[in-house]
Amino acid sequence: MSEMEQKQKMVDVGAVESFPAGRGKRVMVNGNAVAVFRLGEKFHALEDCCSHAMAPLSNGKVQDGAVACPRHGAHFDIATGEVLSLQAVANVVSFPAEVREGRVLVSTQGWLADPMWVSGRRLGEREPDSTQLELEAVEG
Ligand code: FES
Repeated sequence: MSEMEQKQKMVDVGAVESFPAGRGKRVMVNGNAVAVFRLGEKFHALEDCCSHAMAPLSNGKVQDGAVACPRHGAHFDIATGEVLSLQAVANVVSFPAEVREGRVLVSTQGWLADPMWVSGRRLGEREPDSTQLELEAVEG
């Protein structure tokens, strides 16, 4: 895909001011839940679903460029999606994000080709509440 085609697939997810520094915010991009983080002047986007047990990373604590999963505390690099600590052992998907004319743009183009999705684990498509209910049902 050319750079121009990639830019055309970028989705406007809100004004820069609507993304406070120091915590994530969930947005929907083409039906997919995405966690957007603001680190200084830069914006980053990760799938909003921990690779361990699907907790929403947008609710996690942000510190030193990483987000801690709100359920069991695994850390992920916000810029790359790389897993940094247990309980998770798999990275999460990082999406292109940028600012144009005061608006934050995110693209999930190509995500469906991700191997994690092909294996049947389409992350981030559920709302946190329904995920929580399902997990409680399984655990209870
Ligand atoms: S759900 Fe994220 S570490 Fe368990």
